[in-house]
Amino acid sequence: MNRTPLIAGNWKMYKTGSEAVETAEKLAKLSTGIISTDIMIAPTYLSLPLVTQKLLGTNVKVGAQNLYFEKEGAYTGEVSAEMIKDTGAEYVIIGHSERRQFFGETDKSVCKKIKAATEASLIPVLCIGESEKERDGKNTFSILDKQVKNGLKDFVSDDLKTLVLAYEPIWAIGTGKTASADQVEEVHKYLRSLIGQLFSADFAKNIRILYGGSVKPENVKKLMAIEDVDGALVGGASLDPDKFIKIIGFDN
Ligand code: PGA
Repeated sequence: MNRTPLIAGNWKMYKTGSEAVETAEKLAKLSTGIISTDIMIAPTYLSLPLVTQKLLGTNVKVGAQNLYFEKEGAYTGEVSAEMIKDTGAEYVIIGHSERRQFFGETDKSVCKKIKAATEASLIPVLCIGESEKERDGKNTFSILDKQVKNGLKDFVSDDLKTLVLAYEPIWAIGTGKTASADQVEEVHKYLRSLIGQLFSADFAKNIRILYGGSVKPENVKKLMAIEDVDGALVGGASLDPDKFIKIIGFDN
């Protein structure tokens, strides 16, 4: 089993280039010497080349928040996996609920994006999660099932060696409402067994499954203690390096 914890910060549409560089540099300084946990931050596309340059040789890796699945072409406003890779970024977040909600992302486009990411040797962080209505209607597992099966359709495990899954209940994102330990445990266990059924038990054992949704310095320890939780995808609390480093240092 090789599941080094991953603490990832999704900066969403926050920070100009200079603000992003300043935050990234501060974070790199604070995380000097941390080797037991992988660290990633995802600034906006515009800040990607600036931030990756500044973070060269540090513990903090960089990711994009999205990509477009075509290699190149007349797709105004879009950015390809190769272009992201060329900045020095190593990760890409795919299928975040805000992209699904506001920008028409579907499981079908998610699947194509994962393919583009893996072909460009980027590490895909596939986000899935149910809405409050879906949870109340007891549809959590059928929704997750659909998102995983359709998002990972037609892949074989060899294509997905670096895949990271991020379970982010939509009702917990940016709301201050974290899922309970029992809810997280139940879902993560379910997801690992689903991956096992779709690919193999051995493959499932090595996949990192992150939790996301109002992760803070105050609740990270409890979340990370759950058996199938291998890290966190952090929004709001990743914007401030003093706060984010407390999440990264969950095991201290
Ligand atoms: P949050 O966002 O930590 O602000 O709830 C999480 C996310 O959207 O990934």
